[in-house]
Amino acid sequence: MADQKSNAMWGGRFAAGPDAIMEAINASIGFDKRLATQDIAGSRAHAAMLAAQGIITNSDSDAIREGLLTVLSEIETGKFPFSAALEDIHMNVEARLTDLIGEPAGRLHTARSRNDQVALDFRMWVRDQADAAIEGITALIHALLGQAEAGAGWVMPGFTHLQVAQPVTWGHHMMAYVEMFGRDVARFRDARARMNESPLGAAALAGTSFPIDRHATAKALGFDRPAANSLDAVADRDFALEYLSAATICAMHLSRFAEELVIWSSAQFRFVALSDRFSTGSSIMPQKRNPDAAELIRAKIGRIMGAMVGLFTVMKGLPLTYSKDMQEDKEQVFDAADSLMLALAAMEGMVRDMTANRDALSVAAASGFSTATDLADWLVRELGLPFREAHHVTGSLVAMAEKNACDLPDLSLADMQSVHAKITKGVFDVLGVENSVASRTSYGGTAPDQVRQQIARWKEKLK
Ligand code: ARG
Repeated sequence: MADQKSNAMWGGRFAAGPDAIMEAINASIGFDKRLATQDIAGSRAHAAMLAAQGIITNSDSDAIREGLLTVLSEIETGKFPFSAALEDIHMNVEARLTDLIGEPAGRLHTARSRNDQVALDFRMWVRDQADAAIEGITALIHALLGQAEAGAGWVMPGFTHLQVAQPVTWGHHMMAYVEMFGRDVARFRDARARMNESPLGAAALAGTSFPIDRHATAKALGFDRPAANSLDAVADRDFALEYLSAATICAMHLSRFAEELVIWSSAQFRFVALSDRFSTGSSIMPQKRNPDAAELIRAKIGRIMGAMVGLFTVMKGLPLTYSKDMQEDKEQVFDAADSLMLALAAMEGMVRDMTANRDALSVAAASGFSTATDLADWLVRELGLPFREAHHVTGSLVAMAEKNACDLPDLSLADMQSVHAKITKGVFDVLGVENSVASRTSYGGTAPDQVRQQIARWKEKLK
């Protein structure tokens, strides 16, 4: 008989229990308790299948399945006695089941290993998170559509190099993010479809000699099919990496938008006012309204991308199949998922609440000679100048306006004609920002009509 102190689950060949340090480095229960719901669902499906296949009796299966529900409710109500000596969620649950129902509990692990068990639990957890991300991003898209609809035709500066480039519409800018977040949804969907294969029944690595039905457990747990190779099923964590990759890209989009909100809400820009609900004050400067939520969203990518890099680093170079390194796959994914969901919720709230400052946007839209391209295009269209020459003429006019400390529309016709004699007063029609945006009617362009068409397309798509 094994020493009392050896592990009750695998201690048969051990005379002594582990050193305290061994236990500390080995135990994952501190974090993998988050897999309890998935673990119990997986075990219940496994037990039902074992009975259906005549591998265990119906009465044992019933006792196991009932007992597992009791364990689940103990966990949910915080009454469960988690033990680091029992290493992880899998052995904690099984040990507690043994306390509750005795001998039949020992039959649950037939034709199964912790290797396929943990692969299953984690996959189901990540699958849930992909669904949650899709929901969270969709809510954010709805908030952006609301903003886009309200200001489909409001003019604002469009930037390149953070220098005023050409006037665009507020709706157009909001819809740019709708496109980005729309692709994020698609990435999570793709990843979810690929990960939806059940590892259960791969057992330790080679499959099992028991006549199990992997198709039945896969179906019971919402998978499309069982994973086709038992080695792959227990060895890979690419599903978590795909989730993290999609999360990182989404966090990058969130971060860019957050950065814009930080800039836009500053006293220098005043493009938007963030609501009280999503702003904070300063403990010393009474006038302050800080965009802390936006700043924190901007920063969250550090943790999320860090988790992705961390897991790639854990997985690279591991020989097939399972190695204990892979226990280090979970904590960072948990943290990344929490961070992503919080960032999405905060961004959605901020976007719903924020008010665009239409006047400030419009004044800024006209600054920085933003209609210079319209002027050059006019020279091409009306006077037949080659674009290169039109660019040059316009550049001279911009220099003149700059010297006179005025905007392009403030130059007189005589000023204009001193640079190019054939310019007529018709040119002034294209120098206004409203005309500028209205003229950009190419598909996907910034004209309010185009923007409204894109909003309508998205609303239809989201129905
Ligand atoms: N706690 C372990 C993990 O997270 C479960 C799998 C243990 N498997 C093993 N062969 N020791 O990876």
